This record gives sequence, C-alpha cells and structure tokens, in this order.
Amino acid sequence: MEDEKVQNVTTRLESGLSRRAFVKRGLAIGQAVFIGGVLVGNFAGCTTAQKKEEEAKAGGKKSIKFAHITDTHVTFSGKNGTALKEESFNIFRDVIDQVNNMPDIDFLLFGGDNINNTDPGAKDFNEFMDIMSGVKVPYFAQFGNREVSPLPPGIALSKKQYAEKMKGHGLDMGRYSWSVSPVPGLRILGLDTTIEGHDNGEIPAEELNWIKDQIIKYPNDVIITLSHHLLLPTWGNRDIPKWKKKYLLKNYLEVNAVLDAAPQIKACLMGHHHVSKVQTVNGLHYIASPATVQYPHAFRTITINDNEARLEFHQVRAQGIIELGQHKLLMSKNAEEYAGGSAGDILAYCHGGKGDNDVVLRLR
Ligand SMILES: [Fe+2]
Repeated sequence: MEDEKVQNVTTRLESGLSRRAFVKRGLAIGQAVFIGGVLVGNFAGCTTAQKKEEEAKAGGKKSIKFAHITDTHVTFSGKNGTALKEESFNIFRDVIDQVNNMPDIDFLLFGGDNINNTDPGAKDFNEFMDIMSGVKVPYFAQFGNREVSPLPPGIALSKKQYAEKMKGHGLDMGRYSWSVSPVPGLRILGLDTTIEGHDNGEIPAEELNWIKDQIIKYPNDVIITLSHHLLLPTWGNRDIPKWKKKYLLKNYLEVNAVLDAAPQIKACLMGHHHVSKVQTVNGLHYIASPATVQYPHAFRTITINDNEARLEFHQVRAQGIIELGQHKLLMSKNAEEYAGGSAGDILAYCHGGKGDNDVVLRLR
C-alpha cells in the first residue's frame, strides 16, 4: 500500500516534470517568479544600494556578496534518483536566473561536480556553459570528482580537457589549485582536492606547500578556500568509515592545521556530500554547502561586511522539484545511513538548520 502510494507520487511528479515539460512550464514558473522576483529584487536592491551608499558616505567599506553553487551535476544522461539528474539542467537554469536577478552579487564560485561528465564529449559541459552565457559577473570553478572521473573514460571529458575548457575561471593548464582576488582585499584559494579516476580526495604535499606560500604572500587579505571534498566530517561523532573514505579529505587533519594557523583564512567552502552544515573550530568556519541537484536543491550567498559574513540559503523555485527531491531522498537506500538509523531525519540532515543556512558568522 505504502509502495503504491509512493509509486503514484513518483509517477505524478516525474510525469509532471519531464525535461521538455519543465522547460515549457519553467518559462511560465520562471516568469511568474520573475515578476515576484523583480518586486522583491528591486526592494532588496534598493535597500542594499541605500545601505551601501550610506556606508560609502560614512567612509565605510562596501560589502561583498558572492554565491557558492556546488554539485549541480548538469547532465543529459541518467535517471532521477537521490540526485535529480533528469532535472539537473532545469534546476541549474533556475539557479543562474536567481543569481542574475541579484543586483548586488559580485561573483560566483562553483564548488565542483558542476557537470556529471557522463555524456559523450562535451555535451553536458556545453549545456552548462550555455546556461552560464547570461551571467554578467566573474565566476570561478574548482574540480569535483565527476570532472576528473569521466564515465565512460575516454568518451567524456578528462581532467585536462575540462581544465582547458574552463580556463580563465580560476583553473589554468598545469595549475589546478588557484588564487584569485575578485575584489580587492578578498582572496579565494581554489584547492584541487581531487584524485583522477577516484571519488575521494586529498591535497598532496606539493599543493600544501603552495597553500603555505599563499599564506605568506597575502598576510593582509581576507582569505576563503574553495574545495570540493569535506575538510571536516559533517556527521558528528558517528563513525562511518565508508563516508570518511568517500567524502572526507584523506589528509584533512594535516591540511586543517595549516589553515587554522593562518588567521587571515576565515572560512572554507566545501561540497561533495550534498549537505548544508556550518562548523566553527578556533574561529575558522567550515561551510559545507548543499547540492542543487539533490534535496534541498539549494545554493548559498555569502555577504561579507567588515568582520561578519551573512549566509543566505536559496532553493530552486519550482516546488514540484523540491517535493520530488524530498521523495527520492526518503526512498534512497542511503537514507538510514545518512540519518543514523532514522530515515526521516535524512531530510533535516541534508537541508541543515537555521544555524547552517541563514546565519551571520563572525570572522576571526
Ligand atoms: Fe562530488
């Protein structure tokens, strides 16, 4: 009975949200939301502009706002599961439409698994970039495990091919960890944590030395790191060896010791595990951001103002996607594992609470 009910919900949601149908409906939804969005956006923009003007008059520093978008897994192949692959580019289109309507956004950061890399050649990459073509602010990308593990190998993009195509957005040929300052005084260190052909991650000694050099080189910048893999477990005291191996950086303790000792490093942005979680150790904020392709189908914006960072949580605007994502996550074979024995808790774990999503963090 329960199965039948679940099946019906799946069928209804999936049939109502086929890719083609969503594109058509998406326009209508997007437009409706867009109209609302303009009202909200204009209101927010007005207040933001006034605030910035007042700050400028008072000699204050302009706030900096950027988005952390991760695990978009844009793809034309694969079925809807925990990750809504069949909706991946529709979700991504909505996310980019949302940031395009933020009048005060300065730049975008992509945390990896931007494409699923399971389509022949550059098909999914080209779709990703087509959606990005309307973006008017700078954006920077790091690798996820998907971009370095093409499936099938030799047909989808290799790590090198991906880097070549994403060149100029942080990544460069032969240099996969990068350092950019999109706004004076703020520096982003994009850390390549990937291991070619594998899902887990590490930062080798040579790259760790590069991080140390950056710390010495930029003592006065506010520094934020961007990496795909987790630098800290998000599952509390539970001992889950499988997760530790798959999601957590192999040498996270060694890396964290280096980052922790540099007071100008304020926060570490992470993805890969598809959960929203903020943890603070010695004043350093470890910020795991949710996936757009999986429930809660969300991304963050972060606004830095003096010694504070305001985190805001933005979900895809199509309620049908969120309902389908919730349903698929609850049905997941990993649900109990994720939630520590109570499958229903998986939604809360992936979604995060107020302290993970809408919160002001003090910068050390
Ligand atoms: Fe990943």
